Amino acid sequence: MNQTTTSPVARGPERVAIYPGSFDPLTNGHVDIITRGAAIFDRIIVAILHNREKSSPLFTVDERMDMARIVFAHEPKVVVASFGGLLVDFARQQGAHVIVRGLRAISDFEYEFQMALMNRRLVPELETVFMMPAESYTYISSRLIREVFALGGPIAGLVPEIVETRMRSTRPPDEPRS
Ligand SMILES: Nc1ncnc2c1ncn2[C@@H]1O[C@H](COP(=O)(O)OP(=O)(O)OP(=O)(O)O)[C@@H](O)[C@H]1O
Ligand SMILES: [Mg+2]
Repeated sequence: MNQTTTSPVARGPERVAIYPGSFDPLTNGHVDIITRGAAIFDRIIVAILHNREKSSPLFTVDERMDMARIVFAHEPKVVVASFGGLLVDFARQQGAHVIVRGLRAISDFEYEFQMALMNRRLVPELETVFMMPAESYTYISSRLIREVFALGGPIAGLVPEIVETRMRSTRPPDEPRS
């Protein structure tokens, strides 16, 4: 269909999705959602938020971007970027039509529902699509990974190998930290 209205969301031939988050660190739950997204969309932009609320991140945004790029080096549909400010502005800049979010449990729903409706109010043409991970990843969150790791628990199988390696090399779990 030929669109003659001046849509604020660029409509190219490509179906572009944006998957925003902190990804501190990237987990196998995130990887699952990104992989599912890549099967549906022509391009999925993993958009790492410069989060002002999180005062002491585990990894810098550059480190997070680097690991995500390594994990998806074989998948040309996956693009890794970072952004600050409003997601809808960044989505528009990138020509994305869809926001992808993961839903793990009912507990995610309320916040996600609010965000989706607010984003729709800001840019009605930008749809939010929710995706479910494989059952075995439904309990994984970055926060839980950080906590388990800090207490010396095993995180193998919950995060990509490169993430585990870098977590161990930056902060050995058995070292006391302030
Ligand atoms: N295991 C998972 N399965 C499916 N979706 C997930 C999973 N973990 C995170 N997500 C989704 O990924 C998106 C980005 O989330 P985010 O970066 O906040 O990860 P997080 O694991 O929730 O991190 P944190 O614990 O620091 O909040 C959100 O839509 C979130 O619901
Ligand atoms: Mg979260």
